[in-house]
Amino acid sequence: MENTLKMLSSVINPATGKSMSEEDRWINAEADEKGQLTVTYQREGISPEQKRKIEEDIISALKGSYDEDKILVKTVSEKKSTQTAPNNSQEKPTSAHANLKVGHGVQGNKKRIPNVKKVIAVSSCKGGVGKSTVSVNLALSLQKLGNKVGILDADIYGPSMPLLLNKKGAKPQATEDKKIRPLDAYGMSFISFGLFINEEDPVIWRGPMLGGVLNQFFFDTDWGELDYLIVDLPPGTGDTQLSLVQNTEVDGVVVVSTPQDVAIADTIKGLKMFQQVNIPIIGMVENMSYFAPEDSDKTYYIFGKDGVKNAASSQDVKFLGGVPLEMGMRESSDEGHPYMANDKNKTKAGWNSYMEIAENVVKIVGTEKKGIFKKLFK
Ligand SMILES: Nc1ncnc2c1ncn2[C@@H]1O[C@H](COP(=O)(O)OP(=O)(O)OP(=O)(O)O)[C@@H](O)[C@H]1O
Ligand SMILES: [Mg+2]
Repeated sequence: MENTLKMLSSVINPATGKSMSEEDRWINAEADEKGQLTVTYQREGISPEQKRKIEEDIISALKGSYDEDKILVKTVSEKKSTQTAPNNSQEKPTSAHANLKVGHGVQGNKKRIPNVKKVIAVSSCKGGVGKSTVSVNLALSLQKLGNKVGILDADIYGPSMPLLLNKKGAKPQATEDKKIRPLDAYGMSFISFGLFINEEDPVIWRGPMLGGVLNQFFFDTDWGELDYLIVDLPPGTGDTQLSLVQNTEVDGVVVVSTPQDVAIADTIKGLKMFQQVNIPIIGMVENMSYFAPEDSDKTYYIFGKDGVKNAASSQDVKFLGGVPLEMGMRESSDEGHPYMANDKNKTKAGWNSYMEIAENVVKIVGTEKKGIFKKLFK
């Protein structure tokens, strides 16, 4: 325990700026016979976001001597005791409220990715509304407008980009200066959690570890010069979103939803989360807007008409466009040959909808310096 405590002496309590040792907060730092190390500290007066920072610092102080997976961080306070461990550590913030607080607390420490002009996150609180499909096809449409584009698949729980871009099983290499070299897919640089884990692996990542991996994807990846980096987020307002808003300068968010009420209600929650942490909403995309069968001139509004358009107007954000339901869109995803990378779709309504959305994004975000961009949002 003595040795471990020495290693932990660098850990600072962000609430006071003093070291945790100085404040006599360490209660226990002992390994069991299986090598599982339990570190327990007194948490009184430490907020959830400060607790995360402490966890990160504990892990980085100890990782030279202990395997990260073997570190269990426990806290005790007069009111309750909690723990964070590899197997029960999914202490994800489930309410937008907790996330907002964290976002507010760290606004000053965000970094830009060198040589990347604009970072755009594609988000939705609801799963399965087409974020990944929109991310890929928006990225390709931006490329068609003459931009250099990268894709970062930040969906740790269900990374779908390797499949969508036909790169399943590909392994990214390191550059000479030990950075991750993104893969090239359809002329775009891309990186995904899915390239680093096996499909069958259970994905058990702790908040702080997740943040570390995401940071590596943003800052230790050789993105080169990019006009746009599109970040495909997992659904919700969990650890990934939190880590993103804490660490990275995000230039704007494209919010995707399908038009039905149940999806929109969730989507607005996500939208407000980004607004609360002062990340501009570029606008909303309505996916699966309508279905117009090729063998008929009818149009079916399967999930209702204009739901997202109306929501955008009620939330005072821009409506970027609607993407129809097309069989080819689903098929191209499954085949790893994205819809907008396939010229045979040029005559389809979906193609035009994506080009229009990309043009709107460029109009709103531009690739000018941030000051000008900010003015555009006023
Ligand atoms: N406009 C569309 N027309 C037809 N199929 C679509 C359309 N948009 C998305 N899909 C299909 O819907 C399914 C879900 O899409 P996708 O994986 O992009 O959603 P997601 O929001 O990223 O999901 P998750 O929340 O799991 O990350 C996929 O099979 C995709 O091919
Ligand atoms: Mg997805």
